[in-house]
Amino acid sequence: MKRKILVTGGTGYIGSHTVVELIEAGFEPLIIDNLSNSNIGVLDGIRKITGVSPVYENIDLKDYASLNKFFQKNQGIEAIINFAASKAVGESVKLPLLYYRNNITSLLNLLELMPKYDINNIVFSSSCTVYGQPDTLPVTEQSPIKPATSPYGYTKQMCETIISDTVRACHGMKAILLRYFNPIGAHPSAEIGELPNGVPNNLLPYVTQTAMGIREKLRIFGNDYNTPDGTCIRDYINVVDLAKAHVVAVSRMLDKKNRKPVEVFNLGTGNGVSVLEIVSAFKAATGVDVPYEFAPRREGDIEKVWADASYANKELGWKAEASLEDTLASCWKWEMKLKEAHDKEQNA
Ligand code: WQD
Repeated sequence: MKRKILVTGGTGYIGSHTVVELIEAGFEPLIIDNLSNSNIGVLDGIRKITGVSPVYENIDLKDYASLNKFFQKNQGIEAIINFAASKAVGESVKLPLLYYRNNITSLLNLLELMPKYDINNIVFSSSCTVYGQPDTLPVTEQSPIKPATSPYGYTKQMCETIISDTVRACHGMKAILLRYFNPIGAHPSAEIGELPNGVPNNLLPYVTQTAMGIREKLRIFGNDYNTPDGTCIRDYINVVDLAKAHVVAVSRMLDKKNRKPVEVFNLGTGNGVSVLEIVSAFKAATGVDVPYEFAPRREGDIEKVWADASYANKELGWKAEASLEDTLASCWKWEMKLKEAHDKEQNA
C-alpha cells in the first residue's frame, strides 16, 4: 500500500515537480488545486513523466466544507505538503487583503481538519522572504526574522507562527518549514515547468518569454542597489532539487526521524546571483540574447539574499545538485516546448 501524501497547490510550479518526485519515490500523492495560478494540463505532464494520474480535485482551500468532504472521501492521508498560496512579492504589495485571506485562511482550514482525520504531519512551503533584508549573509536558520518587506513575506511569517503554535497545542502533530530561496528551472523532460497565468511576476519566466519574443524587453527593476553590478542578488535553486527536498522532509517525519516537533530548513544553493548575471548566464547556457532595460525598483524587493544551506545538507542529507547553466537551459527547453505546443494549437 503506497503512503498517501496530500499536495495542495499540486498543479502549481513547485507542487507539480514535487508530485513527480513523490511518485518516483513510491508515494501516492493526491492533489488539491483551484487552478488560480496553474492549469489542468499540468496533470498530463505529470502522467507523461510518471505514467501515473494522481487523484486531483479542484478545491479552494478557503472552502472549509469542500476541504472537509475531500478528507472524508480520501482517508489514510499521512502527511500534507502545503504549497497552495499566492506568491508574488510585487503583487502582494498591490493586493494585501487577497494575500492575507488566501494564504492564511487556507492554512487555518488545513490545520483545523488535520486532527479530525488523524493527519499528524505537515510540510509548509515557506520562503526566505521571512528574513526580510538580512543584516548578514549568507542566511542561516538562526538568522533573525525581520520585518517583511511585503504582505507576501508577512503571510509566510504568520503561517510559520500559526503552525508552530498549533503543533505546540496538538500533541503528536509535527511540522517541517522549508524556506525556499528562488526556485527556477523545469523538469528535464520539459513536460512540466513554470507556467504562471498572464504576465509573469517572477524573473525567469519573464526572461524566457522575452528570449522567445513574447515580451519585448526584460525590465530589470533597479540597477542602483548596493551590489557589485547594482542589480538585486538572489539564490536561484533548481526546482527539481527543491522538489526532492520535500520527499526527504516527508520521509523524515513518517520515519519519525525529526528531532523536534517543528523543524526549519533553508533550501538554497548557497550562491548569490544578480539579475544581470542571470541574463548573461542565460545567454551562455542557450546562446539566446535577452533584450533588457533598467526600470525603477519594484516595491517590496529585497536587495540581496542567499542561503547558508549547510544545515539542510547535513541534517537532511540533501544538497542542491544542478548547475545554474543546466537549470537555465531547462527553462529555455521548457519555453521552446510551450511555443511548439502553442504553434501546434494555432495550426490545428
Ligand atoms: C527576482 C529578482 C526582481 C522580474 C520569489 C517568489 C517568492 C519567493 C522568493 C518562494 C528581483 C527581479 C523580476 C522582472 C526583474 N519564492 N525582476 N524583472 O521577488 O525574489 O521572490 O522568490 O517562496 O514566492 O516571488 O523573485 O523572480 O520576482 O524576482 O528585475 O520582470 O528579479 O526585482 O530582484 P522574488 P522574482
